[in-house]
Amino acid sequence: MKLQDKVAIVTGGASGLGLATVRTLHEKGAKVVIFDLDAEKANQITEELGENVAFVLVNVADEASVQAGIDQTIEKFGGIHVCVNCAGIAPPGKTIGKSGVLNLDKFKKVIDINLVGTFNVIRLAAEKMAENDPLTEDGERGIIVNTASVAAFDGQMGQAAYGASKAGVAGMTLPIARDLSEFGIRINTIAPGLFLTPMAGTLPEKVVDKLGSMVEFPKRLGKPEEYASLVQFLIENGYVNGEVIRLDGGIRMAPR
Ligand SMILES: NC(=O)c1ccc[n+]([C@@H]2O[C@H](COP(=O)([O-])OP(=O)(O)OC[C@H]3O[C@@H](n4cnc5c(N)ncnc54)[C@H](O)[C@@H]3O)[C@@H](O)[C@H]2O)c1
Repeated sequence: MKLQDKVAIVTGGASGLGLATVRTLHEKGAKVVIFDLDAEKANQITEELGENVAFVLVNVADEASVQAGIDQTIEKFGGIHVCVNCAGIAPPGKTIGKSGVLNLDKFKKVIDINLVGTFNVIRLAAEKMAENDPLTEDGERGIIVNTASVAAFDGQMGQAAYGASKAGVAGMTLPIARDLSEFGIRINTIAPGLFLTPMAGTLPEKVVDKLGSMVEFPKRLGKPEEYASLVQFLIENGYVNGEVIRLDGGIRMAPR
């Protein structure tokens, strides 16, 4: 699908990988709506990028909030063609840590935002995409890109909740591709290694350096623009579907 004049939702678009995606899609001529909880950052971006980028305060884990965001997107730009799911949290927590067993509500919160939230946005965006007229000669109506993590496959110590949530995102990709095939909607998932974003900034510098040195080549953390460039490829190449793609410089994470 060509991006020019299409309408894209980017969850988590106020920061990091989502923000780089907003910039790339906007540069390629798409109209972009940011779904995020960080109004201050999101408003700065909409001011900078102008009228083709909008912001709606959305909690991806909340059904009514996402529905309201979808409705406002349709009202402002008339449809939805692309949905990129970047909203997520990554609080660490060992199964048995220094202060006892991992709090179950803490575990559930990560699943709720990263996995349930991603599905919540997918299903409501896909409902609108299914109403689009076919956009390509194959009859494509929409494209969804999710964000998992290499922690879906080689999660480190303290990543039980995060790894489970991201494994869920990876695992639902193919069944959703199958569910949505009759509507001409593709879905793919990117599993990033460690990228230089505010999320990575919450890790101690020592940990970031160590993770950078574990990358096979190039020996550095990923740049958010490199993530955004893969999103663009997945939107534009109409034959990639139901796939989970690691974007990680060949890293296989060590246990700790
Ligand atoms: N940075 C990395 O190294 C890395 C690696 C692998 C996967 N990821 C994944 O990539 C995605 C983006 O990560 P990032 O590094 O850009 O993080 P980030 O913290 O910079 O950005 C995440 C954004 O999501 C928003 N958000 C959080 N909870 C939300 C909710 N309930 N509803 C709506 N918005 C919400 C935040 O406000 C923030 O703007 C996440 O899903 C993360 O798990 C990141």
